[in-house]
Amino acid sequence: MSTASQAGTPAQVQRIGVPEIRARKGGDPIVSLTAYTAPMAEVLDPHVDFLLVGDSLGMVLYGFDSTLPVTLDMMIAHGAAVVRGSARACIVVDMPFASYEASPAAAFESASRVLTETGCAAVKLEGGVAMAETIAFLVARGIPVLAHIGLTPQSSNTFGGFRVQGRDDARAQQIRDDSRAVTEAGAFGVVIEGVPETLGREITDTIAIPTIGIGASPACDGQILVTEDMVGLFGAYTPKFVKRYADLNPQIEAAASAYADDVRARTFPGPEHCFGDAKPADD
Ligand code: KIV
Repeated sequence: MSTASQAGTPAQVQRIGVPEIRARKGGDPIVSLTAYTAPMAEVLDPHVDFLLVGDSLGMVLYGFDSTLPVTLDMMIAHGAAVVRGSARACIVVDMPFASYEASPAAAFESASRVLTETGCAAVKLEGGVAMAETIAFLVARGIPVLAHIGLTPQSSNTFGGFRVQGRDDARAQQIRDDSRAVTEAGAFGVVIEGVPETLGREITDTIAIPTIGIGASPACDGQILVTEDMVGLFGAYTPKFVKRYADLNPQIEAAASAYADDVRARTFPGPEHCFGDAKPADD
């Protein structure tokens, strides 16, 4: 008897599920990156536990100044592409601004579209105490939620920009309260962004769900970065919390410049890039 893999068919890869991410509290660090497209998801998939289709795509892909103009339809299109491009990672899709804040019922309508139209496993939404009722409503109806607290980019107008949060005692206490509220509401994890290291560490030590840090603390249960930041594909400015593991922009620029030179010199396409018997350009 031959098995599928003996016969040359690749064995089905098991996707990492939300319960496995939830169970990693205090265990092996959870690895996460953002992905917005199928080819990027395919490259990242073997290396991460979950891929976040972040609404940061509004700034990184679409050139907006903030994440606020991102729509639910944009998130669904990119979410579905990332699900198609991946096989192993758990896929989480961001709920964009104004798609969930008005009421738990509005959030359910938006989140259920995200889940059914993309095939992702969970949604992420920004907010702590203020969103706890909504998180509980979604979780009770079968929609796993990753919460996001601290520097929540959809509130950049309230914060007066993308500023570290929780430097003063009052705001630090709000962020502690947020972390407890989302835990009690049933979120399976919480992204903590842009807070002092000691606060990220303290919250990680205190709450029962995994914390995913970005500009937070190495003590968090996991880490996430925007992939384009991590590989040097977005902007000249590198935020303090980003480590650049590659610098791709100069390589793309060099490739584009070499291609332009070849086209202008008529050395591309060469005979090897043409169909049939090709003559040189100057013939
Ligand atoms: O939108 C996003 O990419 C995010 C991560 C940076 C956490 O929310």
